[in-house]
Amino acid sequence: MGLGMKASNLAQNHARQFGRAAVAPPEKTRRVQGVFDSVAAKYDVMNDAMSLGWHRVWKRIFTGMVGARDGMDVLDLAGGTGDITRAMHRMAPSARYTVCDLTPAMMEVGKKRLWNAGIAGVNWVQGDAADLPFDDGMFDRVVISFGLRNVTFLDRALTEARRVLRPGGKFYCLEFTTLPHAGAQKIYEVYNRVLIPQLGAMIAGDRASYDYLIESIARFPAAPDLCDMMRAAGFAAPDYRYLTGGIVAAHWGTNQPKLR
Ligand SMILES: C[S@@+](CC[C@H](N)C(=O)[O-])C[C@H]1O[C@@H](n2cnc3c(N)ncnc32)[C@H](O)[C@@H]1O
Repeated sequence: MGLGMKASNLAQNHARQFGRAAVAPPEKTRRVQGVFDSVAAKYDVMNDAMSLGWHRVWKRIFTGMVGARDGMDVLDLAGGTGDITRAMHRMAPSARYTVCDLTPAMMEVGKKRLWNAGIAGVNWVQGDAADLPFDDGMFDRVVISFGLRNVTFLDRALTEARRVLRPGGKFYCLEFTTLPHAGAQKIYEVYNRVLIPQLGAMIAGDRASYDYLIESIARFPAAPDLCDMMRAAGFAAPDYRYLTGGIVAAHWGTNQPKLR
């Protein structure tokens, strides 16, 4: 076994953070699934409460940037209860949508919501973003909204997103980020750490899951660092835009195969 191989095995077996605990990678994935299994029924109500409704605005801007069009194949990765697919469907009702998520309970809620909204024909697939159950080059767009910070192997998830894109296809990520203004970031952290777990306890009866969510936000790479990771995964021209002063950021990059 070469040195490079050893290093990559080490990286893959290295303990991962789950909230404040360091756990083995498979255990992290299992616990993340447990969190979303536990919050699935209250997930949408909690989103409105935690973000004071802002997640709707962010998702509307984000899906406008994605620019799904009729005839495209679109993968909504970590698609959960289907918000992003629903928003894209309004713009491009004849695109082909696949939602892929780790947690069946989230997708069950999503299936009902989209069905009730009159949206049929979505392909729902259980899978891990770090090991996607799709062939190479199947999609024109891969989008992930508030999902990437939960995956155990962030670098692998980016590589997988690129693998399943067609040449010229685009990846878009919407995620919480670090505010560019240090003072504002401090106030925001206090809001997160104090209020969100309390809301989680009151509305969802589940403080621990929302403690995890806050930790996952605090530990996620800042926007320029995520761009560097996207570049390392092979995306061309990775870039980002802050929304609402940098509470969240939209990132994008293109699967531009290198010319030989
Ligand atoms: C915060 S929710 C976001 C749901 C939806 N995209 C949205 O914006 O409302 C995060 C989702 O990521 C999913 N998830 C977590 N880890 C994952 C992984 N490794 N692969 C695929 N999905 C994952 C969870 O099951 C959950 O549905």
